[in-house]
Amino acid sequence: MAQHPIIELFERAGQAHVFAFFDRLSPVEQTQLLADAAEVDLAEVSQLYRSLVAKSEGAAGVNLAGLAPAPYEKRPEHGGDAEAWAQAKSAGELALRGGRVAAFTVAGGQGTRLGYDGPKGTFPVTPLKRKPLFHVFAEKIRAAGLRYERPLHWFIMTSHANHAATEVFFADNACFGLDPARVHFFRQGRMPAVSLDGKIILETTGSLALSPDGHGGSLRALDRSGALDLMQREGIDTLSYFQVDNPLVRCIDPALIGWHLLRDSEMTSKMVPKAYAEEKVGHFCSQGGKTVVVEYSDLPMAMQRETAANGELRYIAGSIAIHVLDREFVRRMAAGGDGATLPFHRADKKIPTVDADGTSVKPEKANGVKFEMFVFDALPFAKNAVVIETLRADDFSPVKNGEGLDSPQTCRDDQLRQFSRWLTANGANVATDASGRPNIAVEVSPLFGYDEDSFADAWEKLSPKPDVVDGLYLS
Ligand code: UTP
Repeated sequence: MAQHPIIELFERAGQAHVFAFFDRLSPVEQTQLLADAAEVDLAEVSQLYRSLVAKSEGAAGVNLAGLAPAPYEKRPEHGGDAEAWAQAKSAGELALRGGRVAAFTVAGGQGTRLGYDGPKGTFPVTPLKRKPLFHVFAEKIRAAGLRYERPLHWFIMTSHANHAATEVFFADNACFGLDPARVHFFRQGRMPAVSLDGKIILETTGSLALSPDGHGGSLRALDRSGALDLMQREGIDTLSYFQVDNPLVRCIDPALIGWHLLRDSEMTSKMVPKAYAEEKVGHFCSQGGKTVVVEYSDLPMAMQRETAANGELRYIAGSIAIHVLDREFVRRMAAGGDGATLPFHRADKKIPTVDADGTSVKPEKANGVKFEMFVFDALPFAKNAVVIETLRADDFSPVKNGEGLDSPQTCRDDQLRQFSRWLTANGANVATDASGRPNIAVEVSPLFGYDEDSFADAWEKLSPKPDVVDGLYLS
């Protein structure tokens, strides 16, 4: 019988082992394995193996030549131009009223560190109501739509592993009050893991070890899924990008959008000043007239610690994964060509697999390499990239780990601090500890207020004002 063409391709590429157990599989399993295999771009895998794995011994690492800190727009309270910020905010508001903006959440990660069973967006985070992450974003997006009298479209990138569960979660919750016709889910791409000698790893006898291609895969996936065409038909040219794990994020920030549009930028990003020199964040830098993000692991410690004449850290601008993207820029990056392609990075991992007999093996140490793209690698390709400052307390408190740093507890505390700041700024009396955390639990629904402006407006209208006591929920 003639060999299946996919099997032949794999044989020719030196990957015949992928089908070593093929004859033992049921017809359904065979079809599944062939489908997995059909997803693989063998030439790409081979090229990545050669450039990132085979050659990496003694590789030069990241090029630091000519690296300098990236300029950024300081907030007015830190000496930035208050007039320019006000103009940016007005421009952003105008774009929102004109329906030019959509929200975009990347939710295709595996969330291994949190160790939660289910799509990360379904993880409960708010202090009183235990609202899941998706619920918080949905309410912020809905509230912004009401404020600017233009309901927003929301694009959500999922993975193969969590796509169905994510859709069911939204359906079960009636889309949290959003118009389902404006909420769009699409899957990101997958990449096969390879062993240190370049062989594509089998996860079981009938499946490949495939995993999401990184948040940078979102650019390709936006294009492939038809999201960009949909945006174009709807007159949307600006995407507000944020991660699924950060409930503090201003999903829709008029000032950020306005800076992006007024500067005719293709990609605009938020920075926070690093909390301390060695903080494990990406650093916004300039190199050869381009904006780049250099990961902490690639920036020599001496540079991370370098200070300027005023005593401030020189490489101070930490990336918090909040960006605004121009639609046609995404299309260009997705198409590749002219060198405008996101590079892949390698991550060495313990990848469950099978041995020569087909028995499952759980490796004790890294046995293979996964390939991922990072969205911030698009920055050097963007025309007029802009970086603006934001206050960490107003934009960033991710849930990454089960405990300790960036955990549900630190995120809960940061939300409480934010609610308390909004209340205090509007004249309410809230007792807090030295860190600004109230000693009671309160919660503000994004539908009441989702940033300081909307909160102030809603609070002003409240009559009589409630006492700020334990359990207060403003909705
Ligand atoms: P992280 O880098 O925190 O990765 O993702 P993760 O997979 O969620 O978590 P760990 O490392 O396994 O614990 C940052 C953001 O990028 C998204 C995540 O969903 C999160 O919003 N992401 C990451 C994707 O959408 N796809 C990916 O392939 C990777």
